[in-house]
Order: sequence, then C-alpha cells, then structure tokens
Amino acid sequence: MSFQNYDSFSELVKTSRSVRRFSKGSGITRELLTAFVDIARYTPATANFQPLKYKIFTEKSDLDDIFPRLKWAGLLKDKFVLQKYDERPEGYIAIFTDSNILPHEKCGIDVGICAQTIMLAAKASGISGCILAAFDKDAFAKSLSLPENLSPALILAFGKSAETITVEDAENGRVAYYRDENDVHHVPKRPISEIIF
Ligand SMILES: Cc1cc2nc3c(=O)[nH]c(=O)nc-3n(C[C@H](O)[C@H](O)[C@H](O)COP(=O)(O)O)c2cc1C
Repeated sequence: MSFQNYDSFSELVKTSRSVRRFSKGSGITRELLTAFVDIARYTPATANFQPLKYKIFTEKSDLDDIFPRLKWAGLLKDKFVLQKYDERPEGYIAIFTDSNILPHEKCGIDVGICAQTIMLAAKASGISGCILAAFDKDAFAKSLSLPENLSPALILAFGKSAETITVEDAENGRVAYYRDENDVHHVPKRPISEIIF
C-alpha cells in the first residue's frame, strides 16, 4: 500500500458527502452510471450470491417521474427549500433486491456495500449525489411494473454539487445535520474516541 493512495482514498471518503442541490452540466450519461454499477459488481457479497439488480435513469421523463417520489433532508424539515427544477439530479441509479436469489431481508448489507461503492466511484469522477431510502417503495415498484421477486431498496441521485458542506466532530452526541445562516450544510460525525471501545 502506498501512502499516496491512502491519502487520496481518505480524501475521497471525507469529501464524499450527501449532496441534495445540483447545478446543470454534470456530464452524467447512462454509460457513466453503468460504469459505476460495473465497479460495484466487484464488491464482496453474502456467500457471493450477488442478489442486487439495478435500473439507470437519465431520460428527462424518468427524472421528472422520480424526483417527486423522493423525500429530501428529512431532519431539516421545512428548513430545506425544495430544489428548483434546474437544481434537481441529472441521473439516478435504483437498487433492487432479487428474492429469486436471496430473501429481501438478507440483502441489506449487500445493498449498503454496493451503494457506497457507487457513491465513491461517482465522487472519483467529479459527480456528487445522495443515497435515498425515503420513498414509497410499493408505488415505485408498481410504476415500473416490477415482477414479484424484485423489490426497490435505494435510489441513488447524482448531479454536479451546488452545495457547501462541512464535516465536523459531533459534540455531546449531537449528530443531527443542520444548515447555518449562510446555507452551509454541517455534518457532525461521532469522534473516533467514542466509537472504538
Ligand atoms: C441508507 C441511507 C438512506 C438515506 N436516505 C436518505 C433520504 O431518503 N433522503 C435524504 O435526503 N438523505 C438520505 N440519506 C443521506 C443521509 O441523510 C446522510 O448520509 C447523512 O445525513 C450524513 O451525511 P453525509 O452522507 O454527508 O455523511 C440516506 C443515507 C443512507 C446511508
């Protein structure tokens, strides 16, 4: 392992924050999002079952359909001003679990591993985004006429970041993310002294 790789990996993870507001011109294409999923194929999987399936959305009609399904920054409540049309994501990857391969309830860890791998692949190509679980999964499945065995797990949203975000050590267990008066988004992370025991 070279320290140069370590430093850039550390930087990649630390700067890979959840971004919810975007500007145009991300350069996202179906091919680029496909390449991210192609990287996720190489991650570890429960008994190597690989129970995940993906759908990629970059067409305007699909973007318009998916955006209103998503619930953004629930903790900010009415402080989060919903994105203007031009500030919306320019692509999505939806992750599904396939019960023909592994029961849905056994796929959660695989979903997490693949989701973050994709987010890091995106960040490494200059694309930001957000993992979203807060959407009506039954309604989304219905809209896609999914077969019984497929169940939506997460939607990953992508675009060019238009946000200022800072990570800081959480104090006194206060981990709720918040925005300050300059619209800077703060993400408190529990300090190392509190998480290794
Ligand atoms: C499994 C999972 C589900 C999430 N679902 C949502 C969501 O529905 N809406 C949203 O705005 N953010 C969602 N997030 C983003 C988290 O709010 C975010 O990771 C957290 O605030 C910490 O910020 P950070 O990603 O910059 O570290 C989700 C993140 C994860 C890992």
